[in-house]
Amino acid sequence: MELTYEINNDKIRIITGKDIFKDFIDEFNSKNNISIISKNVFKKYDFLSNIKKRIVIDDGERAKSLEYFSLIVNELLKNNIERGDAIIYIGGGTIGDLSGFAASVYKRGIRLIAVPTTLLAQIDSSIGGKNAINYMNIKNLIGTFYNPELIIDDSSFIDNKNVIMDGLAEALKMGITIEPELFNIINNEINYIMKNIEKIVNISINAKLKVVSMDFYDKSHLRYVLNFGHTIGHALESYFNNKISHGEAVANGMIAELYISKYLGNKDISNDIRKLIAKLGFKIIDFKSIDLNKLYNYIKNDKKSEAGYINLVSVNGVGNYKIQLISPDEIIKILGDMP
Ligand SMILES: NC(=O)c1ccc[n+]([C@@H]2O[C@H](COP(=O)([O-])OP(=O)(O)OC[C@H]3O[C@@H](n4cnc5c(N)ncnc54)[C@H](O)[C@@H]3O)[C@@H](O)[C@H]2O)c1
Repeated sequence: MELTYEINNDKIRIITGKDIFKDFIDEFNSKNNISIISKNVFKKYDFLSNIKKRIVIDDGERAKSLEYFSLIVNELLKNNIERGDAIIYIGGGTIGDLSGFAASVYKRGIRLIAVPTTLLAQIDSSIGGKNAINYMNIKNLIGTFYNPELIIDDSSFIDNKNVIMDGLAEALKMGITIEPELFNIINNEINYIMKNIEKIVNISINAKLKVVSMDFYDKSHLRYVLNFGHTIGHALESYFNNKISHGEAVANGMIAELYISKYLGNKDISNDIRKLIAKLGFKIIDFKSIDLNKLYNYIKNDKKSEAGYINLVSVNGVGNYKIQLISPDEIIKILGDMP
């Protein structure tokens, strides 16, 4: 699939398909571009050594730091990267966030090309223009909004369970709230997720583009829907000291938020979604084993809170969401009743 999308006056070309990235390497090598490549990804795919100008770095949250940012700026300078040249990032969301930030501020902005290599990065972090580094243990504290001009989503990178699960939780989130077709694919083709990766990527990209184009700078509440499952999900991540994966936290967050939705007068689909999430291979968290007083403190800090209440994304059947205000006390009471 190839599509060109205009967002915030930027034209973005998105190309998806299998084994498509290799064909770009000669073109990238012919100019003074530089690639920022995840060390793990570089080690795994031999053809990446054909890229001439490259910075190969560690990834993960530690890479989203001032230290790695200055390392990159030093390399850009050393390699005489000018305003018309491009940074090409090849890696997951952490490499993307760091590279996008560097591209947006180096010489007040140079060209950016994204080659996301995890499902989460292909369907979520590469779309919408947000980038950031962490500072003083605060996630995404320093960042900008900056679009890549080209995104190459090569499904041959999405070749193992580890790079799929976090993205799958985000795809399911969009399927339940705004894109029932996506929900149906995940639900009906549960044993054939790998076969359906390209379809899942294409539909998810369009779904996320629709939401972010309404509010590129995230100034209103229009992007809240992308946070479905994340009020409880982020609280669970903090509760478990980030020892559970983001996908597992969001998946269990969605189950909990569907249960809360029922209490807010909506159709109850939490049980069906719990079964689906378990079948997809996520571990189901037993809320009875959780210290809810401790969880309360994390829920209170949700970024969607307003005068002590939380703007919760509630769901009234697949494809039908709304934002409902609820206090953290009520949330905790309801979670105490979870089966
Ligand atoms: N900017 C945004 O809008 C946005 C949205 C969502 C998430 N994010 C950010 O994205 C980050 C998470 O991204 P992620 O889940 O891609 O994590 P990641 O970048 O840490 O990658 C996960 C792991 O997969 C490995 N990996 C990557 N591609 C691989 C491949 N093809 N084969 C084998 N291993 C591979 C990496 O080396 C790493 O160990 C977080 O920092 C989060 O804040 C940003």
